[in-house]
Amino acid sequence: MSLSRPHGGKLVNRVVEGAERERLLEQARSLFAVPLHARQFSDIEQISVGAFSPLEGFMNQRDYASVLANQRLANGLPWTIPVTLPITEERAKTLRGVERVALSGEDGQVYALLDVEEVFRYDREAEARQVLLTTEEKHPGVTYLKSAGDYCLAGPIHLLRRPDRGQFANYLLDPKETRFLFEHRGWRTVVAFQTRNPVHRAHEYILKCALETVDGLLLHPLVGATRDEDVPAEVRLRCYLALMQTAYPASRTVLSVYPAAMRYAGPREAIFHAIARKNYGCTHFIVGRDHAGVGNYYGTYDAQRKFFEFEPGELGITPICFDHTFYCRKCGEMASEKTCRHSPEDRLILSGTRVREMLRQGLDLPREFTRPEVAAILREAYQTQVQ
Ligand code: ADX
Repeated sequence: MSLSRPHGGKLVNRVVEGAERERLLEQARSLFAVPLHARQFSDIEQISVGAFSPLEGFMNQRDYASVLANQRLANGLPWTIPVTLPITEERAKTLRGVERVALSGEDGQVYALLDVEEVFRYDREAEARQVLLTTEEKHPGVTYLKSAGDYCLAGPIHLLRRPDRGQFANYLLDPKETRFLFEHRGWRTVVAFQTRNPVHRAHEYILKCALETVDGLLLHPLVGATRDEDVPAEVRLRCYLALMQTAYPASRTVLSVYPAAMRYAGPREAIFHAIARKNYGCTHFIVGRDHAGVGNYYGTYDAQRKFFEFEPGELGITPICFDHTFYCRKCGEMASEKTCRHSPEDRLILSGTRVREMLRQGLDLPREFTRPEVAAILREAYQTQVQ
């Protein structure tokens, strides 16, 4: 066995450097500028460093329609989430006949160029129904779609500037870097862990169980846009750093941030998360309960079942599935229904909402739920910044 090959066979690189970059930056001054939403601001970087290989830019209509209907790109390769650049009708009209545009960030700077392959109209409600499995406005993915334009701008991109990741920059490894690192360490099997929540004992337990079966672990907390209610990424990263100091051996673990935006698309996003981690070189991917879910939109194990809609080998990364795990007071340790015969009353289970409530009230999180050093970071963050 060896590290996973990139999805589609080749690690995409759309980062432009040196004299060519200078030339394109100069050219950008005379191009139409299209402002990027936080989601696409993450996407341009992910596409350019190969995390979304084989995508070289924002999807055209053929790929988009195929992803919605068949969970595959038009060439048949599995792909479950649209990666598109929505624009308003007004802007779409101004782009008629335009061959290249500049993509700008909130700060007004140009970050990338896009070669306009096509501008197409899409149906936001149909996308919500097929990808998110709901059209309810409360779903954060639907809220996003409602705010997006009715047209998509498609075509390959050229990245001219990396988004400034501030304090995350020290923990940001690109797919070619994680691949190099894994190889350097002699790992042939690596399990990736996607997360958007502060680390708790259930996470720790599934990480530990998964790591027992492979050579190494990539802790890959998502630090792109999330819902306002989610704990801010900088606080979550502090929790991970605390965990790294006390728990897992550094020789078996790599901590790196994953700068993508959350879609909250549950099962389809689980596949998307796994494919991206395959591009980082990982061979295995952890899928626990309600992966990438929100509210009660998805069944607890729907994301796990989604992996089995594909033929073995098609995805090129193996899911390691976990049942809902909890602390059992009778066992005196973490367990799941698979491994514990005691009754539900013996289980310590706290929902994300309850945890945030407790933190806001300044209450201590039980040590069986979260390590005291992690709880202290969260408590402090909630009392000073997060309100
Ligand atoms: S997610 O949106 O990134 O999936 P979260 O950070 O909560 O959210 O979860 C990260 C991973 O851990 C997911 O695969 C999720 O299914 C899994 N997970 C979280 N809590 C538990 C739990 N109590 N039992 C089993 N798996 C869990």
